[in-house]
Amino acid sequence: MPQRKILVTSALPYANGPIHLGHLMEYIQTDIWVRFQKARGQQCTYVCADDAHGTAIMLKAEQLGITSEELIGQVNTEHQRDFADFLIAFDNYYSTHSDENRELAAYIYKACKLKGHIASRNITQAFDPEKELFLADRFIKGTCPNCKSEDQYGDNCEVCGATYSPTDLIDPKSAISGATPITKESTHFFFKLPDFQEFLEEWTRSGTLQPQVANKLAEWLEAGLQEWDISRDAPYFGFEIPNEPGKYFYVWLDAPIGYLASFKNLCDKSDELDFDEYWNKDSKAEVYHFIGKDIVNFHALFWPALLSCADFRTPSAVYAHGFVTVDGKKMSKSRGTFIMARTYLDHLNPEYLRYYFAAKLTSHVDDLDLNLHDFAAKVNADLVGKLVNIASRCAGFVKKSGGNLSAEVSEPELLAQFAEKSDAIAEAYEHREFSKAIRDIMHLADIANQYIADKEPWQLAKQAGNEQQVLDICSNGINMFYILMTYLSPVLPDMARKTEEFLNTKLDWSQVPQPLVKHAINKFKPMISRIDPKQIEAMVQDSKPKTAEPSKAKPKAKPKPETPTEIEYDDFAKVDLRIAKIVNAEHVEGADKLLRLTLDIGGQQRQVFAGIKSAYQPEQLIGRLTLTVANLKPRKMKFGMSEGMVLAAGPGGKDIWLLQPDEGAQPGMRVM
Ligand code: MSP
Ligand code: ZN
Repeated sequence: MPQRKILVTSALPYANGPIHLGHLMEYIQTDIWVRFQKARGQQCTYVCADDAHGTAIMLKAEQLGITSEELIGQVNTEHQRDFADFLIAFDNYYSTHSDENRELAAYIYKACKLKGHIASRNITQAFDPEKELFLADRFIKGTCPNCKSEDQYGDNCEVCGATYSPTDLIDPKSAISGATPITKESTHFFFKLPDFQEFLEEWTRSGTLQPQVANKLAEWLEAGLQEWDISRDAPYFGFEIPNEPGKYFYVWLDAPIGYLASFKNLCDKSDELDFDEYWNKDSKAEVYHFIGKDIVNFHALFWPALLSCADFRTPSAVYAHGFVTVDGKKMSKSRGTFIMARTYLDHLNPEYLRYYFAAKLTSHVDDLDLNLHDFAAKVNADLVGKLVNIASRCAGFVKKSGGNLSAEVSEPELLAQFAEKSDAIAEAYEHREFSKAIRDIMHLADIANQYIADKEPWQLAKQAGNEQQVLDICSNGINMFYILMTYLSPVLPDMARKTEEFLNTKLDWSQVPQPLVKHAINKFKPMISRIDPKQIEAMVQDSKPKTAEPSKAKPKAKPKPETPTEIEYDDFAKVDLRIAKIVNAEHVEGADKLLRLTLDIGGQQRQVFAGIKSAYQPEQLIGRLTLTVANLKPRKMKFGMSEGMVLAAGPGGKDIWLLQPDEGAQPGMRVM
């Protein structure tokens, strides 16, 4: 088979904060896939970069009293160190704030403009008169027009879930300076995405996307595409738009172009890689983007449209993954589960996490739960208890008999069984079904352990005359370990390296692995230690906020009065409280706090928007019973009709608890 030429990217992390375990799943997933391709002999190139532009980065630098360039420089160094320590092996790690990216962004923009796909018009926006800065919705705060809770964001209320436009806020303030925003007009530039409706309908259905993602996009495409605002006014940290002084490219315009720029930068340093060969319209190379499900629209709508407009090829596929939860919940600072890469490394070996993610990753967009108890149990059972155990039980006997493996394989069928799995395991990696690959590998590890346990070489060794038999058994054990480590090398690169030292040979998976015979091995050194639950506890403790941060913690809504206002029984009787079953829950495109729930209230379905996204993943809710106000007048919200309300308690943020009836309650039952 001819060598494939493959270019792979992971999403470019924002340069305003450290890498955390949520990010890491993506980079680990991509890195495993890339290492697998390389191990199989493909020419595979993995590039990434920091996403260095935008208002958030500009403001963060200002807060720290440094320039944006200084901030992104520092963060770039930290990011690269974190990735390297998690054994993520980029061929190039760059920045979107680079000359290559500036040129490519200008080139693509000009191509789009020349073909008539750029529009410009005036829009009115909130403006901070003190900072002299246009304010995105999330930079405006004020009192909710609906429930009068203070300190709510400009697009929706965390307390009552109402959505509105920032101009509806009572007493709005700039979250940056505290000044009262004014409205101001300015010219913006738009990418005319609707011009690409037909192209995108075709492209999104051409097998480039996972079915779940393609279906979601089909819904958006059916609803019709909107022009995309690609400009921001100064001051903005980014690239100025050619011939439009004071206007900058919106960060999401030049971010994906950063993939091209990072690759270009690498090509310019390399003799083997040719930029055009990968990006020409008729390129035979393969290009894959690994991303999170939250940024699918940028990668599967805007990005292919921009590329095709500028006569570049489009990606072969976009692979989206779900979000990491920890112990079944969104990562949370207060619970100590918002764990930074560095904090993890202070306590634990990176290969534990690589293995655990691999054991759970599939090709689907589902969220992945890092259950800390299960994490320790699985790593200890599989890596220490099963895998390394094979080598450690056999190595000593081989050493004792002179250090050479048997000249002949005594159980060729046994080893053939291991070699035969090569294709199936490779297939699983190729299709990003890592959990299937790991299952197959661990099944073989079980067979190996069973074999050694049955043969009991330690018993045989007690009697003289059994030397050859003991050596044969242990050579088989070592060979099984050798093949298993070959299959695991994309997941466990450091253990693979140690295995190469121990076995005095390279792990080579470019062909079906063959047993080593009459081969000298080295002294066995323990390769990985057990996880002590105390290490995990210490990591969680380290991830909790040190002190209450009064300045940063946002003031909660006014505390409710201690003595509730009395109401008449008749008032209470008006409220029709029912048991509801949540039959579906999903994210609402464009809403930060809301989930769209479908409730079954006994033969009838209701759509309800609930402001509980900060506390729950949709998947956790499906199938649960809760209480709903069934006779609340439907209310039109920004995202559609809300036909009721679910009952939850708590101050907000992560601390929201959905009420849940005891078992036995049925949807539709009236609450009394
Ligand atoms: N800068 C953009 C991407 C630009 S790509 C041209 C961005 N950056 S990010 O830092 O917020 O996220 C980087 C990647 O990490 C995204 O693919 C995102 O989905 C992923 N994740 C961030 N948090 C995550 C979890 N908690 N779980 C899984 N992936 C997560 O988006
Ligand atoms: Zn409100």
